[in-house]
Amino acid sequence: MPHTIPDLRAGDVAMPVIGLGTWQLEGGAAQAMVEKALELGYRHIDTAQAYRNEQDVGAALAATGVPRDQVFLTTKVWVDQFAQGDLQRSVEASLKRLKVPRVDLLLLHWPKPKPALSETLAALNDVHGRGLTRAIGLSNFPSALMAKAQTASEAPIATNQVEYHPYLSQRTLIAKARAMGSTLTAWSPLAQGKVATDPVLIAIGQAHGKTPGQVTLRWQIQQGVATIPRTRNPARLAENFDIFDFALSDDEMARIFALARPDGRLGEWLDPAFEWDVD
Ligand SMILES: NC(=O)c1ccc[n+]([C@@H]2O[C@H](COP(=O)([O-])OP(=O)(O)OC[C@H]3O[C@@H](n4cnc5c(N)ncnc54)[C@H](OP(=O)(O)O)[C@@H]3O)[C@@H](O)[C@H]2O)c1
Repeated sequence: MPHTIPDLRAGDVAMPVIGLGTWQLEGGAAQAMVEKALELGYRHIDTAQAYRNEQDVGAALAATGVPRDQVFLTTKVWVDQFAQGDLQRSVEASLKRLKVPRVDLLLLHWPKPKPALSETLAALNDVHGRGLTRAIGLSNFPSALMAKAQTASEAPIATNQVEYHPYLSQRTLIAKARAMGSTLTAWSPLAQGKVATDPVLIAIGQAHGKTPGQVTLRWQIQQGVATIPRTRNPARLAENFDIFDFALSDDEMARIFALARPDGRLGEWLDPAFEWDVD
């Protein structure tokens, strides 16, 4: 029996707290995992123009019996499509590949110095105004740039999707996003599988009959952060979704926060002109 997934209020839309990440899933594997996820009760799918699997995600959505309006679909605009006109055309092409009239959330995949943020935000607001997406957001934006983007945007910035797992603190960004009425979505939420061998997460999991992966995902959603783990393993797909029947104590949450370390970042591709938040 699938769980009912709690939603997170993100800007003016409701976003299910857990979704399936699809980076590195392509072709039949991507389609099969998305279909299986929807069967298990997942109602949030994360893709991107850069993942080259929008057509496979679209095929899964077309094949599933789950009504389109019950699935929260996110895609991301790649950085070479940030100019006025390019962005709109790239989103129209994404929708064609996804075989849907609109997505639920459209993100700018990474910040970029040119064209100006105001130009890209105007284009993003244009596709929002035309109903091609229900909400807009960002990915990999440090907090100062996130605030600048919100100032340049008519529509609320629903989320900022950034790397977040037990080894990387995002305290500053979470607080600032919250203060702006926005949210954080965690990418590489399982630290690309590294959490599985962590003694602290294993010990906390044993106390609840849960795996380190489940403890990590629970730690994220319990903070009000959305999470989008990826797997190509059907058993783990079910495992990652089975996080709604236990709760971590304040002490357990604190023990996981204490795992953050200065060199914990896995992905480093920010333009040198921008600076990550320092916690
Ligand atoms: N916006 C961005 O710039 C950005 C960047 C990176 C990622 N993302 C998004 O975030 C999603 C997730 O991030 P990610 O794919 O980098 O990494 P992740 O979800 O942290 O980790 C995926 C890895 O962990 C393994 N795994 C999955 N479930 C597990 C579990 N319960 N226990 C132990 N290991 C487990 C998977 O292996 P198996 O397949 O063998 O299970 C896979 O190797 C992506 O798919 C993408 O949608 C966004």
